[in-house]
Amino acid sequence: MNDNSHSLDTKIIHWGQQPDISTGALATPIYQTATFAASSVEHFEELCQSWGYVYTRECNPTLTVLEAKLAMLECGESAIVSASGMGAIASTLLALVKTGDHIVSSDGVFSHTKILMNELLIKFGVEITFVDAVNSENIKSALKNNTKLVYIESPLNPTLDLIDIKKVSNYAHANNSLVIVDNTFATPIIQKPILLGADLVVHSLTKFINGHGDSLGGTIIGSKELIDEIKWPSLCCFTGASLPPMSAWMILRGIKTLDMRLKKHCENGQALAEYLSEQKHIELVKYPSLKTHPQYELCQQQMNGFGGGVVSFRLKDGIKGLTRDQASRKLINAFKLITIATSLGEEHTLVQMNGENLIRIAVGLESARDIINDVHQSLIML
Ligand SMILES: Cc1ncc(COP(=O)(O)O)c(C=O)c1O
Repeated sequence: MNDNSHSLDTKIIHWGQQPDISTGALATPIYQTATFAASSVEHFEELCQSWGYVYTRECNPTLTVLEAKLAMLECGESAIVSASGMGAIASTLLALVKTGDHIVSSDGVFSHTKILMNELLIKFGVEITFVDAVNSENIKSALKNNTKLVYIESPLNPTLDLIDIKKVSNYAHANNSLVIVDNTFATPIIQKPILLGADLVVHSLTKFINGHGDSLGGTIIGSKELIDEIKWPSLCCFTGASLPPMSAWMILRGIKTLDMRLKKHCENGQALAEYLSEQKHIELVKYPSLKTHPQYELCQQQMNGFGGGVVSFRLKDGIKGLTRDQASRKLINAFKLITIATSLGEEHTLVQMNGENLIRIAVGLESARDIINDVHQSLIML
C-alpha cells in the first residue's frame, strides 16, 4: 500500500507491501530461492529484459519490498539493496567512475571507504582528493573539470562534525559533479540528503535501519536513471554483493520500528551528552544538538534539531597523574552495562576508543538513566 497522505511512521510499516496474494500472509515472505521458474522461453526472455524475477543475485521479491521502503524513506525514485554497506559503496563507485576521473571526498569518511578509494580505485587510475569538508569552501576549491563525484558523510565519525549537504551539492552541481552522501549516522528519520540536493544516498543497513545488530546490509538510493546505471553493470549482477533474502527479511522487520527507535536513540544521546558536558574530568563533548556544538545551527536545519545516536567525548589529560590514554582505557574497562564493541545503531549501547583521543558511545535503547549511571560509576572511580 503506497499512500502518500499518511505520516512517515505509518508509511514505514505499510509502504511497498501487501498481504501475500496466494496465502494472505501479512508479513512479507522470505523468498528463499536462488532461481525462479518461467512458463515459456518467451516468458523467460521477457523476465530477463524487464528486471523480472529470474535469479536472486539480480532481484528477489523480499528485496523488492525493502527497496521500496528505502526509496520512500529517502525520497528517492529507486533503491537497490546490497550485502553490506561496503557492498553498496564499492558497487556505486565502481559503476560510476572510470580511469582519468577525479573524486573529491571528505576526510574522515568511514575508514574502509577511504581504503577502498585509496587502495583500490587508485589502481584503476582514479584520482582522489581528500579535504576537510566541514568547511564547504574546501570542496569548492578541490573541484576540477574531471571531478565525477563528491563523496561525503555527515555527521562525521567519530568527531560528529557536520558537513553542509546543501552547500556542497550546490558547489558540486555547478561543476557537473554528482554528490553521494553516506547517511548511515543520521538516517532518513532526521536527515534527507536528496531533499538537500544530493544525487545518491548510501547506507550501512547494518546500523540503525536494521537496528538489532544481527544482520549486515547496505543500500543505494537515488533517481531511477542513476540506480539503473549502478545496477547495470555493477550491483548486483557483477560485483555479486547481493543481499540474501533472509537478511532482507530481518532488515524489513527492523525498519518498521525505525522512527520510534531513532527518536529514543536521540533522546538517550541528548541526555548522555548533557550529562557528560557537566563532568569535571571531561574536556570536550561532541554531539550535534548540544548548544555548545560549533554547528548547532546547521544541526537545526539539516538534522531537524536531532543529534542522532552517537556521542563522542574526550577526557582531560593528567587526571590523577594518568595520561589521557590511560584514563580512557581505565574508564571504558570499568563499564558494566556498556559493551566494548564496534558498530552503532543497535539496542545495546556500545563503546569504542577512536582516533583523536575520542571515546565514542553508540547509544542504545536502554533507559537513559541506566546508561548514564554506568558512565557515572566508572567516571567517579578515575
Ligand atoms: C558510516 C558508515 N558507512 C558504511 C559502513 C560500512 O557498512 P557495513 O559494515 O555494513 O559494510 C559503516 C560501517 O561501520 C559506517 O559506519
